[in-house]
Amino acid sequence: MKRCKTVEALRRELGKLRAGGKTVGLVPTMGALHEGHLTLVREARAKCDVVVVSVFVNPLQFGPNEDFESYPRRVAQDAKLLEACGADLLFVPTTETFYNPDHQTMIVNPAVQGLYCGKYRPGHFSGALTVVAKLFFAAQPEFAFFGKKDWQQAWLIAKMVSDLNWPIRIVKVPTVRGKDGLALSSRNEYLDPKSRAGAPAIRAALVSLKKAQVSGERNVARLAEEAKKTISRAGGRVQYLEIVSQKSLLPLKSVSEPAVVLVAAFFGKTRLIDNIELSAR
Ligand code: PAJ
Repeated sequence: MKRCKTVEALRRELGKLRAGGKTVGLVPTMGALHEGHLTLVREARAKCDVVVVSVFVNPLQFGPNEDFESYPRRVAQDAKLLEACGADLLFVPTTETFYNPDHQTMIVNPAVQGLYCGKYRPGHFSGALTVVAKLFFAAQPEFAFFGKKDWQQAWLIAKMVSDLNWPIRIVKVPTVRGKDGLALSSRNEYLDPKSRAGAPAIRAALVSLKKAQVSGERNVARLAEEAKKTISRAGGRVQYLEIVSQKSLLPLKSVSEPAVVLVAAFFGKTRLIDNIELSAR
């Protein structure tokens, strides 16, 4: 596996690797890799001739009081895991080489970036869209892989690519979970033992909500209320829990079209997100 630190070096290496019409798959990450990330890499390996993984903790998508400084960084270990998954190229830019010191240009989706996670993390999604756009132009992949764990993010990225007619296929990969149902996340490392024990209630609440919906409950307010209670009883503090259209990402009053339940909850000081898709009955 080759390692590149600059866009120029990445383009040079990719120029050699993609000769002969080979397809490139990109997996953007912020590192501290776990099975969730590695599943995206394996998916890319199965679909594409050349697999590029980026590891970059993107300052633009962190708020002033968020965990940018303390976000786990361990590139040497990440590189070993990626090598074992058969990645061809690891792109690890530094902030100084990747961003102009006076970087200004941002990608925005004014309709959706301020909803749900975006409401509580102002600027987060335009930061994420901007870095993903930069990574897309750096690697020019045919395919790019994103986890459904971050459903709103994957939706915004697919929308950006579609709105701007970029020739990139966005592949959305199902969430990888621990045995107790907790979605794998680099931030799970922050959980103290009591919070770690309570956190699987998020998944349990979403699964019960889906069961109730499949059994005939369509009323969004009632479904959401019950799920919030389950999370609170396990010691969680729900930040938001919304049932929204898969198509428009706008809130629904009843589950009359394909929907997704989006949730963020704190266990201790750690903010966790998860979701579950619902089909209309
Ligand atoms: P990061 O949190 O490192 O996640 C990188 C990718 O892995 C994202 O597409 C995310 O949805 C996916 N992922 C994380 N946990 C997962 C799980 N349990 N199952 C399946 N996929 C999972 O998301 C980001 O980084 C950044 O915002 C990024 C897109 C790299 C832009 O900086």
